[in-house]
Amino acid sequence: MPKLTVEPEGVCIDLHDDETILEGLYRHGYAYRIGCRRGGCAICKVDVLRGEVDYNRPVAEKVLTDDERATGTCLSCRAVATSDVTITLREDNLRRVNPLMARFAVAQPG
Ligand code: FES
Repeated sequence: MPKLTVEPEGVCIDLHDDETILEGLYRHGYAYRIGCRRGGCAICKVDVLRGEVDYNRPVAEKVLTDDERATGTCLSCRAVATSDVTITLREDNLRRVNPLMARFAVAQPG
């Protein structure tokens, strides 16, 4: 189960296998600037500072170029962590919109 850290806030959460970065943060009650949630608008781009992500659904080259991938840009609504990952948001701060969600964000069995 990979860990996701968001800098500079220092928020650290567990991600389920095959859970996107966006899904994991929302499951823990956090929000940030997003758009379509389907890999089409590019608003949810974040920077990966450490760790690796992969995409289990297609992402259009026009939304996330190979150069961006190579330099650590990540489409958070589609990216799945394949190791512990540290990211930083672009043009936004992480907001805790539902503190109760962290209580229910239990680990996935198995
Ligand atoms: S929210 Fe639109 S691409 Fe991620």
